[in-house]
Amino acid sequence: MPHPREPRVNPSILSADFANLQAELARIATADAAHVDVMDGHFVPNLTLGLPVVEALQKVSPVPLDCHLMIEDPDRWAPAYAEAGAAGVTFHAEAAAAPVKLAREIRAAGGRAGIALRPATPVEPYVDLLAEFDMVLVMTVEPGFGGQSFLDVTLPKIRRTRAAIGDLDIRLQVDGGVSVDTVERAAAAGADVFVAGSAVYGAQDAAAAIEELRTLAGRACGH
Ligand code: DX5
Ligand code: ZN
Repeated sequence: MPHPREPRVNPSILSADFANLQAELARIATADAAHVDVMDGHFVPNLTLGLPVVEALQKVSPVPLDCHLMIEDPDRWAPAYAEAGAAGVTFHAEAAAAPVKLAREIRAAGGRAGIALRPATPVEPYVDLLAEFDMVLVMTVEPGFGGQSFLDVTLPKIRRTRAAIGDLDIRLQVDGGVSVDTVERAAAAGADVFVAGSAVYGAQDAAAAIEELRTLAGRACGH
């Protein structure tokens, strides 16, 4: 289904050099946002970074921060990321006890609220809640690690999510395995925000990789 919004590309710093994050953020200054994967070693079997690092990145990033919280108990931890200045704070539906209350707290703290769905989590139970959110993140790999292959089985859910969004001002983000080989089919299915870790940070020229993904996505959805 074609949709009117300009595609956005948010590189994931999970594939960046963690010893040089300020310089790695400078490489993606032409991106729409930096995607920051927060993992707690419980919700996913990997541990990355947390609030103190996000606070530090916020001070030096040339682009807004898009925080993807792969953590247990986001009800307790998520609002602080918005308070720290993150432009977007996305928590997982599977982990949240009170997603509407939490979305409202994130928005009250000045952030854009996102809800993320693992590949096996259906969107249907959340359709009536969508107006509480600024973004839906359909995971296109099992969360936890970069460099995995895009799961085509998620494409029907992307289409159903796009249909459920209808005229609402809600972004549809895809995350995992997004590359020049997969971005077009995700865009054609209705995604309009593209997270790419290895495809951007693995490229010699990150700005060129960002531009290529944006162009391919734009063409696939009629821009
Ligand atoms: C995976 C993370 C992704 C990851 C994507 O759990 O949420 O953001 O960095 O990496 P690529 O683009 O390499 O699949
Ligand atoms: Zn992510």
